[in-house]
Amino acid sequence: MRTGSHYSVLHQERDLSSEISKQWHDDTLAVRAGFERSDVGEHAEPIYTTSSYVFASAAEAAARFSGKSPGNVYSRFTNPTVQTFEKRLAAMEGGEACIGTASGMAATSTLIFATLQQGDHMVVSNNLFGSTVNLFGKYPPKFGIDIDFVTGFDIADWERRIRPNTKYLYLETPTNPLMRLADIEAFAELAHAHGAELVVDNCFCTPALQKPLALGADIVVHSATKFLDGQGRCVGGAVVGSASLIEELTAYMRSAGPSMSPFNAWVFSKGLETLALRMKQHSINAMLVATALKSMPGIERVIYPGFPDHPDHELAKRQQRDFGGIVSFEFSGGREAAWALIDAVELCSITGNLGDARTTITHPATTTHGRLTQQQRDESGISEGLIRLAVGLEYPDDIAADIAHALGLSSA
Ligand SMILES: Cc1ncc(COP(=O)(O)O)c(C=O)c1O
Repeated sequence: MRTGSHYSVLHQERDLSSEISKQWHDDTLAVRAGFERSDVGEHAEPIYTTSSYVFASAAEAAARFSGKSPGNVYSRFTNPTVQTFEKRLAAMEGGEACIGTASGMAATSTLIFATLQQGDHMVVSNNLFGSTVNLFGKYPPKFGIDIDFVTGFDIADWERRIRPNTKYLYLETPTNPLMRLADIEAFAELAHAHGAELVVDNCFCTPALQKPLALGADIVVHSATKFLDGQGRCVGGAVVGSASLIEELTAYMRSAGPSMSPFNAWVFSKGLETLALRMKQHSINAMLVATALKSMPGIERVIYPGFPDHPDHELAKRQQRDFGGIVSFEFSGGREAAWALIDAVELCSITGNLGDARTTITHPATTTHGRLTQQQRDESGISEGLIRLAVGLEYPDDIAADIAHALGLSSA
């Protein structure tokens, strides 16, 4: 069963068992945490593709089903391969426990529907991934959970929306696609001063670049689909938090079922092993590409927190280990100019996903944020001329050359 804390000592590897009290470095946890070798003696993590588990007797089955005896029952709520991913990510985020979910959206909806009830209230950033805005706008209110949306990260604005029944402040930092940052420490203080909890979507930075829990946040949510996978293969998500929270979410998972598949969990666990290396290179490449974009005629504005002219540059330096792999840029020519560029690229992939080894190019206003109302897009600053580039691991000069060529700036 989910075991809660002590992630630094969870695996039973022979050669490291003497290290039982040692707190390993993040790089070691990313490679080693969460794996309990089976009797077969496999070196790499196996994939347990089983829907259920067998019991030695009817009495053992009864004890497992009732929770009196620990162990797996059914893969809707526990599976050893999924647990490896959960323990590894919890270790990397510095959380007590984690639960894997079918998607990033399933992570958010599991958190909300498992822990809130009629009469509760949330204060939520307007600058969230489009489906998260839709989820919050449409479904919790149906069940008597009130949501207040706030544009931007002005602490006083947020404080004004807090009520005695506010349970969560929910934000994404950096935001998608405009890369605005919230000061996690200040928001955690605000939440706690009012008896609420701070939830941070850490999808863009990942624990390799930002540790919301260490900065005071209570809960981290992830779309594992993005950088945790890193190669655009699987859809999944996760919630990281206290052992008691994850126990509550596991009970919901058992009843409601938005579970992560063991195959996907295996892919994500392998992705975590190289996460820090990839995030470092994504950040290097993004800085180089963003710098090249700045000098390209026709591009009005380049948005990257690594630039000193970005409004949140100082906060990014303080709060993040690096500036990340996402760069947005804007044309004054609106949708026509943005679409013309997207249609002309040859190397970059036209797709809504991000966090892939392959650079992806997206027009947020008509894709990822297309289901928002015009007013919501205007309030979030998502213009028709805005393009999001999720810079991949190709040679950065090739990525910049692809954009330059698409702009008609070179004949290559
Ligand atoms: C910041 C952020 N959070 C959550 C999600 C939702 O994740 P998923 O697509 O895995 O459901 C996304 C998807 O793009 C995202 O960008």
